[in-house]
Amino acid sequence: MNFRSLITTPDKLCGTVADALLVVVATDPDRQALDASLQAVLSEAINSGDLALKAGRTLYVHRPVGMKAARLVFSVAADDGAKAFKVALVAGLAQLKSLGVKHLAVAASAALEEAHAEALVAAVTDAVYVYRHTKPSAAAAPVLDRVTLLTDKASAQAVQRGLKRGEAITAGVTLARECANRPANHYTPSNLAAEAKRLGKAYGFKVEVLDRKDCEKLGMGSFLAVAQGSDEPLKFIVMRHEGAAKASPPVVLVGKGITFDTGGISIKPAGDMDEMKFDMGGAASVLGTFRALGELRPKLNVIGIIPSCENMPSGRAVKPGDVVTSMSGQTIEVLNTDAEGRLILCDALTYAERFKPAVVVDVATLTGACVIALGHHRSGLFSADDALAEALLAAGGAALDPAWRMPLDDEYEEALKSNFADMGNVGGRAGGAITAAMFLKKFTAKFRWAHLDIAGTAWKSGAAKGATGRPVGLLTHFILARAR
Ligand code: BES
Ligand code: MN
Ligand code: ZN
Repeated sequence: MNFRSLITTPDKLCGTVADALLVVVATDPDRQALDASLQAVLSEAINSGDLALKAGRTLYVHRPVGMKAARLVFSVAADDGAKAFKVALVAGLAQLKSLGVKHLAVAASAALEEAHAEALVAAVTDAVYVYRHTKPSAAAAPVLDRVTLLTDKASAQAVQRGLKRGEAITAGVTLARECANRPANHYTPSNLAAEAKRLGKAYGFKVEVLDRKDCEKLGMGSFLAVAQGSDEPLKFIVMRHEGAAKASPPVVLVGKGITFDTGGISIKPAGDMDEMKFDMGGAASVLGTFRALGELRPKLNVIGIIPSCENMPSGRAVKPGDVVTSMSGQTIEVLNTDAEGRLILCDALTYAERFKPAVVVDVATLTGACVIALGHHRSGLFSADDALAEALLAAGGAALDPAWRMPLDDEYEEALKSNFADMGNVGGRAGGAITAAMFLKKFTAKFRWAHLDIAGTAWKSGAAKGATGRPVGLLTHFILARAR
């Protein structure tokens, strides 16, 4: 996809050369920045009752009179912000979906900022993504391959920056979606490791992949306990973007890489278990973020850590009540083998200590409880560090990839007490997303830390089942803001 910006003025819109012109209009009839021909079409549509100036409404016009473009779509935005712009674009793009539009031009009545341009790239890239790896017969992708964002002179530079940033982020989002969408028999820990190596080659990241023996030497008893039930070899992936001096403390991203979560001996019910192929969504988002970093090359150090294995029941699998010793030395009673994410993350967090991180952010499809708490719109954010939490929330807002802060009071720790180990790996059902975060917190004493529970946001269920690529946008914005 080729994204461009073009400086123009409202009076020239009718002369726009493209296969379709998508105009995002305001709800206020007096605030449309259109030329006379377009204004005539809009006024007539409003007067005839074909288009109400209400957010979400769209109108398709074929061969509009007085215009160069053969197709015109009006889409009404709730306000002038980037979020409303994106919502309107998604609705407008849906109107054009099965048409032969190769070159799309987009105009808006709102003043464009960087975020609008970024939102355009996200909306278009999402509209044309088709999963084909195991379904080559999938419907042909839209023929759309060129998008021009029309802007006034004042916004041109910001629009240009937004397009560039948007292209880098969406390349990461698309990579994350593709990795996560692939079924577990097509995407194992070894495939994740190979993907990391590929990125390393393409963008100059150092990539190291530890195997079982290495993890044994490091004393990762908790990670190893989860991996031991599967015949698929575990991988512990470490990748580095070196954008600043060696001594500059890195941002460390840790992604949960369970390529399939059966629950283990505490096996999950059969319904919807297929969706546990998405349980490496955290890992996919770390890879996707590195893909974006590869393009944007921010001047700071970033390390990605991905502990990856399957969670399977077998004659060798870890059993409820087993006590394992984590890399930190703390012992853990595995009360539920389905709470495996925290068991692999805790050793990855301890491993992160060696990098003397500026901050550590882990990303995990960690708990069903987080889905109950926040649904599918906002990711759960946990951090005892107010400044770090604020920065991550702000990054989520800027990227239209929002999170919501959840509590971490000491009182929640009570639930993890065990008579047989330093801690159990589960609390009760109540506050399950929080007790999971409290478990992780026990391994983060040596650095500033935040945790993102993306169980509700990493993929969609139902007819549109598929990975979202979240929170690549949030993570990339967070890193870019730190590099400024
Ligand atoms: N990968 C799951 C979390 C999950 C479940 C994400 C459903 C999205 C939808 C995780 O490993 C898990 O099984 N968590 C358990 C924890 C429980 C045993 C304390 C859960 O949420 O049920
Ligand atoms: Mn599980
Ligand atoms: Zn899991």
